[in-house]
Amino acid sequence: MTDSASTAPAHPGLPATGRSTAELLADLAALRAADLPTRGRRTTAYVYDSGRPEVRAAAEQAYLAMLEVNGLDPTAFPSVVALERQVVGATAARLGGDDATPGIFTSGGTESIILAVKAARDARPDLTDPELVIPATAHAAFHKAGAYLGVRVVSTPVDPATFRADPDAMAAARTDRTVLVVASAPSYAHGVIDPVAEIAADAARRGIPCHVDACVGGWLLPWLADAGAPVPAFDLSVPGVTSLSCDLHKFGYAPKGASVLLFRDEAMRLRAYYACAVWPGYTVVNPTVQSSKGAGPLAGAWATMQALGEDGYRELGRAALAATARVIEGVKAIEGLTVLGSPDATLVALGTDADLDLFALADESRARGFFLQPQLSVDGLPANLHLTLTGVSAEGVEDLLAVLAESADAVRPLGPPRPPADIVALLEQVDLTELDNATFAALLPAAGIDLSSADGPARMAPVNRLLDALPPAVRELIATRFLSALYSPHLGG
Ligand SMILES: Cc1ncc(COP(=O)(O)O)c(C=O)c1O
Repeated sequence: MTDSASTAPAHPGLPATGRSTAELLADLAALRAADLPTRGRRTTAYVYDSGRPEVRAAAEQAYLAMLEVNGLDPTAFPSVVALERQVVGATAARLGGDDATPGIFTSGGTESIILAVKAARDARPDLTDPELVIPATAHAAFHKAGAYLGVRVVSTPVDPATFRADPDAMAAARTDRTVLVVASAPSYAHGVIDPVAEIAADAARRGIPCHVDACVGGWLLPWLADAGAPVPAFDLSVPGVTSLSCDLHKFGYAPKGASVLLFRDEAMRLRAYYACAVWPGYTVVNPTVQSSKGAGPLAGAWATMQALGEDGYRELGRAALAATARVIEGVKAIEGLTVLGSPDATLVALGTDADLDLFALADESRARGFFLQPQLSVDGLPANLHLTLTGVSAEGVEDLLAVLAESADAVRPLGPPRPPADIVALLEQVDLTELDNATFAALLPAAGIDLSSADGPARMAPVNRLLDALPPAVRELIATRFLSALYSPHLGG
């Protein structure tokens, strides 16, 4: 046996003998070198930084203190119930409910939405073909909930100028099979609040529940209203709104894995729950999709809320609002760039009125240190670049505008995005479901994607241009194939 054979681990990925914490943390730091920064103001999607080290420290320590507590059984770990009551109660109190409002702490917006759809579906056991009516701008989580739960999603066009839901189109789309209608406050893609009162009133007249997706706005809009922003009523105070989701891991600035789903009444919450006694183990009764779950995210959310307090959130909201106003103003001075619609919160979609290649612009901005999230065109809604502005954005807003201006200058000579017509045609013909991962991975370089680069593709514009030129169903197939290839160690490099 050679030396290398004797030291090679028997199980790849698992060392033969345990390693020190210092080594492990060094590994993680090395791996994270290629990640986007999670703090500061340069990553304008995915992360929410309060900019307050003492708040983060409180959350981290609370998270660790509850790391091993299992939310599977609240009678074994009553701390979970006590914390959840506080977190849900605080959320309800700010969002048109009170301390009697039933709620569930979930792992995120998607889980809250899946549970809201489940509760609505299960309220109508008489229907074999339930439907969900959404505006086209509703979050993808509703499509996911529909797919998971066997509820057909009926998507309705939004106003092409304001990007807000069209209550008449939604009213026209509901049928006797509609189990739930949806409004966003605000939508993620354009940051605008749908006409919640009209949508909910129409639903109520028909006896249909109405869910408000306030995942991104629920813990932001009330503080913006305090800061003087005109925020229309969107929460449980609006007649006809029967459930609402509010993510604390967004503008609650809590560590990830934290959302609250509120219900108008207890009967609806009961339908979100799941119980199973037809197996020989412990009786399962779960409020969430997850069964065993650490109480870290709950404790982290609780600690963040407690450490920031009302004045902390109010100050962060005021700062985010000021940053947003400055971005909207500053973008007007950049030739070729526009803001889509009139954002009601602190999320902004940057479009173009001069056919700029926005995907190339995102790459240019990233090369200059600012990450902007590309959003592809769909349903006649134009492609754009997403910016979520948070409490820490204000300090960097002039840098951001300078980077946007420079990036726009850099891409202006390129003209409009030019997708590779031959590859678009090829991908529209190939049956992607028939390809194995290796063949799929071999196609990627032609689209400008290099799976062997640990740093991820430096330039995403070729990929985005290509995807944008393809129908959504083909995009979905490519995206899932890409993910599968990415997670295949022999292909991922
Ligand atoms: C309006 C809205 N709904 C739902 C979600 C889904 O949330 P999550 O990513 O936590 O599952 C998001 C996420 O950005 C959102 O903005």
